[in-house]
Amino acid sequence: KAGLLYFGSATDSPGQRERAGLEAAYPQYDAIFADNDQFGQTTPTNGQKWLFTEPERGVFNFTEGEITSDLAAKQGKLLRCHALVWHSQLAPWVETTEWTPEELREVIVEHITQVAGHWKGQCYAWDVVNEALNEDGTWRESVFYTVLGEEYINLAFKTAAEIDPEAKLYYNDYNLEWPGPKADGAIRIVKMLQEAGIKIDGVGLQAHHVASRAPTLDQQIAVLESYTALGVEAAYTELDIRLDVPSNETSLQWQKGAYINATGACAQVEGCVGITLWDFYDPFSWIPYVFPGEGEAHLWFADFTVHPAYYGVLAAL
Ligand code: XIL
Repeated sequence: KAGLLYFGSATDSPGQRERAGLEAAYPQYDAIFADNDQFGQTTPTNGQKWLFTEPERGVFNFTEGEITSDLAAKQGKLLRCHALVWHSQLAPWVETTEWTPEELREVIVEHITQVAGHWKGQCYAWDVVNEALNEDGTWRESVFYTVLGEEYINLAFKTAAEIDPEAKLYYNDYNLEWPGPKADGAIRIVKMLQEAGIKIDGVGLQAHHVASRAPTLDQQIAVLESYTALGVEAAYTELDIRLDVPSNETSLQWQKGAYINATGACAQVEGCVGITLWDFYDPFSWIPYVFPGEGEAHLWFADFTVHPAYYGVLAAL
């Protein structure tokens, strides 16, 4: 739509969808997903993560991630790939071993070599490093940071660039949608890589927002411009906007406004290339599991009618 390269939705199959136990909804869900006028792009919400792709050292499994990448290929959707190095949904063996720096470097290189190598040429973009920052902009503790310091970020991007030179390489995180210390941290990461001569192509804004306190349009435009000013692109990579359930007319209007501001900001900033919803159907959402009492964060209700926000998004693009 408009100036965007793509508008899409992540999907998780099996996974979230099986947890919902709503098999009767699959055909309608699949039909909406398949409609490229709705979604021209997708991301596997879970299947490419470390836990799935390398559950034991040197044992690689691409079956879960391929469900979505195959669907993308079959339906002619652009694929964003997610995520190579992340502290969460990491295979336990990575966290429970006492690594020397040299060993952990090998582990990272091997993981990226196999995983990015497997999907080589299929990914418009890879989230190379996910969530390396704390809210105050300092580095998040993780096995990677503890053993290697910030150097693991350089190593991850350098390796990804060698393995899949065509993919756009992204730093991805949440709460990067307004100016502040965390956004400054993302800027620091881009500069750190650029100064080291390592390829970085984009900043991914997850955008897991809360309807009642979402960033304004101006905040989002300002922060997007602060990223694109560095010569990289930006994208909304995991957009959802939760509210206290059950929703009411007021909260659905807040949500509509918040969706308009997020999608409108991306559409208005040159260099914000696309928007990915973190799924589109409320019953298949990850939100209620992680934020109890919240939900209805997506654009389709359980009965497949659309949220008011759906029309807001259409108008904003
Ligand atoms: C979430 C998935 O949607 C859930 O199914 C899973 O249980 C946990 O992870 N930031 C990210 C995503 O980068 O990978 C997360 O996805 C949501 C937060």
